Amino acid sequence: MSSLQIKEEKVKPETNGIVKTSPTAEKTDEEEKEDRAAQSLLNKLIRSNLVDNTNQVEVLQRDPSSPLYSVKSFEELRLKPQLLQGVYAMGFNRPSKIQENALPMMLAEPPQNLIAQSQSGTGKTAAFVLAMLSRVEPADRHPQCLCLSPTYELALQTGKVIEQMGKFYPELKLAYAVRGNKLERGQKISEQIVIGTPGTVLDWCSKLKFIDPKKIKVFVLDEADVMIATQGHQDQSIRIQRMLPKNCQMLLFSATFEDSVWKFAQKVVPDPNIIKLKREEETLDTIKQYYVLCSNRDEKFQALCNLYGAITIAQAMIFCHTRKTASWLAAELSKEGHQVALLSGEMMVEQRAAVIERFREGKEKQARPCLSLLPDKKIERLDTDDLDEIEKIAN
Ligand SMILES: Nc1ncnc2c1ncn2[C@@H]1O[C@H](COP(=O)(O)OP(=O)(O)OP(=O)(O)O)[C@@H](O)[C@H]1O
Ligand SMILES: [Mg+2]
Repeated sequence: MSSLQIKEEKVKPETNGIVKTSPTAEKTDEEEKEDRAAQSLLNKLIRSNLVDNTNQVEVLQRDPSSPLYSVKSFEELRLKPQLLQGVYAMGFNRPSKIQENALPMMLAEPPQNLIAQSQSGTGKTAAFVLAMLSRVEPADRHPQCLCLSPTYELALQTGKVIEQMGKFYPELKLAYAVRGNKLERGQKISEQIVIGTPGTVLDWCSKLKFIDPKKIKVFVLDEADVMIATQGHQDQSIRIQRMLPKNCQMLLFSATFEDSVWKFAQKVVPDPNIIKLKREEETLDTIKQYYVLCSNRDEKFQALCNLYGAITIAQAMIFCHTRKTASWLAAELSKEGHQVALLSGEMMVEQRAAVIERFREGKEKQARPCLSLLPDKKIERLDTDDLDEIEKIAN
């Protein structure tokens, strides 16, 4: 599988992926929205494994009288051998919780529509990639599967999964409909799968006519919650959906399911089956929590130094209240001879991704995201989600 060349050196993602927050001012709506896409990307970089979920899957079938199938193995899905090979080459032994129910539904004949929600890292992307690859007809040299992602970076992440899973399917080609990928006017795309951001996909389907939307068999709307947080994406997605044929299979995925996402989902996915997976309560059995009372910044720093003197700390993440404190602390700890990396919301998403990558590889012993990396409400719940995340990174 190969992909189209992106012809411009520097591609600006549609939401530009740059998080510009001020440490003192309240975040504007726009900044909050950009944060969501950046966070989703960083989530993927941090999390390289499946989030195991033992919660019950809630399934609402469009036709409640039809039997409900779930699979415990990939063999049961009767995938094409090249695809099964691709799945195993990725190290997947069995379907994840959401995949158990979503895959039989997505692969059923006649095709059925689906709205699926489960927390980040539970295998949604892998599920719809498998569905797209199963439906595609390699001999037909035109786009048949269309996948919308909220940003350029997220489109690339999904593209990578398509390329990995389709590794044993050399006839299958993938095109990226993202800003900066310029094609000649009048050209038609021959790649069978197109993944892109709503604005560019809309241009390619309507104004530029690089894609014939009437020939699309599978339409995927990924990260719907991030999508609707971006100005204009909701309308663009709906306009694209309206160009597709009636019998096109529509699939929508989201990590969260607030009211606005649900309303949008119902607009773009007619007669859907619905799958919901409750968020797993994260267990903290293996984590002990302590607090030290300090009256000022210097006392806090002293307490940290005492900790470092008393116990062996391989790697740690230190969360600070403001960016200013974070950079002060980074400098102080560096003076003490610690290897420190600074991670904060004012950095470009690529820079933050690089810091996380270096931390994972153990090149830095501490990273200290300041408040703006994580939403405020998450900081308030630092003792649950985030510690778990830190634990995962540290391992
Ligand atoms: N059946 C499986 N077995 C093992 N690993 C899997 C399986 N399915 C997916 N994974 C891995 O789990 C991780 C998360 O999967 P995926 O990206 O599909 O989750 P997601 O639900 O789409 O998350 P997000 O909401 O962040 O997009 C990836 O590293 C993926 O390779
Ligand atoms: Mg995903």
